[in-house]
Amino acid sequence: QATEQGIMLEAHEFVKKYYHHLLVNTTEGKQALEYLLNRGISREEIKHFELGVALDSWDAVTKVLEKRGYPMPIMEKAGLVVRSERDGNYYDRFRNRLIFPIHNHQGKIVAFSGRIMGEGSPKYLNSPESSIFHKGKLLYQFYQAKNVMRKQNRAILMEGFADVISAFRAGVHDAVATMGTSLTEDQAKVLKTSVDQIIICYDSDQAGINATDKAAKVLQKEGFTIKVAQMPDGLDPDEYIRKFGPEKFNTSIIEASVSLMSFKMQYHRKGKNLLDETVKFQYIKEMLQEIAKLSQLIEQDYYLNQLSKEFSISIEVLKKEFGQYSNQAN
Ligand code: GTP
Ligand code: MN
Ligand code: MN
Ligand code: MN
Ligand code: MN
Repeated sequence: QATEQGIMLEAHEFVKKYYHHLLVNTTEGKQALEYLLNRGISREEIKHFELGVALDSWDAVTKVLEKRGYPMPIMEKAGLVVRSERDGNYYDRFRNRLIFPIHNHQGKIVAFSGRIMGEGSPKYLNSPESSIFHKGKLLYQFYQAKNVMRKQNRAILMEGFADVISAFRAGVHDAVATMGTSLTEDQAKVLKTSVDQIIICYDSDQAGINATDKAAKVLQKEGFTIKVAQMPDGLDPDEYIRKFGPEKFNTSIIEASVSLMSFKMQYHRKGKNLLDETVKFQYIKEMLQEIAKLSQLIEQDYYLNQLSKEFSISIEVLKKEFGQYSNQAN
């Protein structure tokens, strides 16, 4: 006797295979296949990540689900079909999109994300929240990456599906991604069950830099050692790998990732003229606030000394001022 959730999971597995089949074996899927190959995603990767395509059809998936006897009200709850208010009929949720299947942390498909081929909005369309899919609790590819993560005691956090797939090509098998939302406490706790170190590798545009700051805050609360990988010119990991190659991504980006505090120094300095004294004192205060967030006294002492030296402020005075911030931080 199958439960409703059991039926939803089974339907996702079935639809995943259907989308994949359309992509790799059919003429209708050819354009999507070309799109992926043009993006540098190989047939092997398409297979590994179980990518697929939803055809430009109103009811292709609806029909195959009906034919298999899946109850439509449950398929609607699962987010695979939508019911029209107007005519009461069921239609496919995903149309004319590349499909990225999303596994839960037990390895079952619980959702899809569909990317438009080319320009358009929304760029990605996700399955809705359901009893089997909670976007804020899941990390894309965590299930597949967790063994490698544990072995290396490290995880790499990225923004997008394409980033994780390209990183895999570069031999980086411990990368996961959030799905268009900020990193949540739940997601951080999941990572903590497997690793102590995180490298944040978000897009190098302004949104990515702000998101790095935000994610770091969440990760610091869970006590991770945090590093930040930085790419040039507003690129994201996928774009960087395609432009400079997988090898260079490893040596120049991942291995060259910097401590969170180095990132913070750059972050708070950006666009500031530190020769201006008011600006300088503001920067010092911002850094004291950052130092106060560090959990280890050794680290705190190290960065206080660094600040003291750089700006020729006596360590006694700096520590006295720091006292205010460290009380606020806890
Ligand atoms: P590509 O253009 O395919 O390389 O996508 P990207 O991953 O570089 O996209 P971007 O950096 O803009 O966004 C990062 C992630 O946010 C994506 O992988 C999606 O998970 C999510 N995202 C982006 N755009 C949308 C959107 O329009 N709707 C939703 N729900 N999520 C989005
Ligand atoms: Mn939820
Ligand atoms: Mn982005
Ligand atoms: Mn991106
Ligand atoms: Mn991208």
